[in-house]
Amino acid sequence: MSERYCVFGNPIAHSKSPAIHALFAANTAQDMTYEALLAPVDGFAASVRAFIEAGGRGANVTVPFKEEAFRLCKQLSERAQHAGAVNTLIFRGIEIFGDNTDGAGLVRDITQNLGFALAGKRILLLGAGGAARGVIKPLLDTRPDSLFIANRSPEKAAALAAEFSEIAIPQGDFLRGAVDAGNMATIAGKSFDLVINATSASLSGETILLPAGIFSPGSLAYDMMYGKGETPFLQTARGQGAARCADGLGMLVEQAAEAFSLWRGVVPESSSVLAELRANLAA
Ligand code: ATR
Repeated sequence: MSERYCVFGNPIAHSKSPAIHALFAANTAQDMTYEALLAPVDGFAASVRAFIEAGGRGANVTVPFKEEAFRLCKQLSERAQHAGAVNTLIFRGIEIFGDNTDGAGLVRDITQNLGFALAGKRILLLGAGGAARGVIKPLLDTRPDSLFIANRSPEKAAALAAEFSEIAIPQGDFLRGAVDAGNMATIAGKSFDLVINATSASLSGETILLPAGIFSPGSLAYDMMYGKGETPFLQTARGQGAARCADGLGMLVEQAAEAFSLWRGVVPESSSVLAELRANLAA
């Protein structure tokens, strides 16, 4: 019988994950199914238990359950511990192992799909919520020159910077101050090679107002969100001099590829899947 996987979320009907994993499974000849399951807002843990009892082998977790999934797991990967959130569950009997592949997906999309090397680069991360937290450690692991976290509420950015400076410094790879923080006004006069939007501003149809001059020549603007056309953030970034713009569709596919390889032990080819999703999005 095919092995079962799923993604839990609420809402979940428009998730692209079943289509992505169906393509991965077909391309790698894996005998598995992957479905989208709606968990009640107050019933995530019960939904996971029911899926395990029904023979489920693993699951992805999306909004709004990633933090609850983190608390549910008996064992956590190091990157999930840093993220404080889990997007991938692996079931070993009744034990639940939690991982987070979001940051790896972002880094892989930027470095491999977009061919943009991160070592030595000045990175600006916009936002200090769950989405931002999830990608900080994987970004630091690429040994950038610096990481500046800017958030509308600067105290949240400062707390994150303090926490991740603690992690980075004992490893000897970073100078004190390499992880810095402020608000959108603090970044005036600075310039960056990579600017990542990890805020949820576009969900409410808003864009982020950035000071002029923050995009260095050759810089990349990356929006972790995606949509049919160019996102409001990327439109703003292009107007302000970003040399290249990319949305988060590649991150979505790469975090899925990472989860798939954890479950199945096979690394799926992702570029054709990304191309197919892009074509469907534009249609
Ligand atoms: P997520 O899990 O998507 O990160 P979150 O934890 O609620 O969601 O965090 C949302 C992030 O987007 C926060 O950094 C938030 O800024 P505040 O901490 O100041 O609230 C940011 N954000 C949301 N709407 C925004 C807007 N219109 N302009 C700027 N930042 C915004």
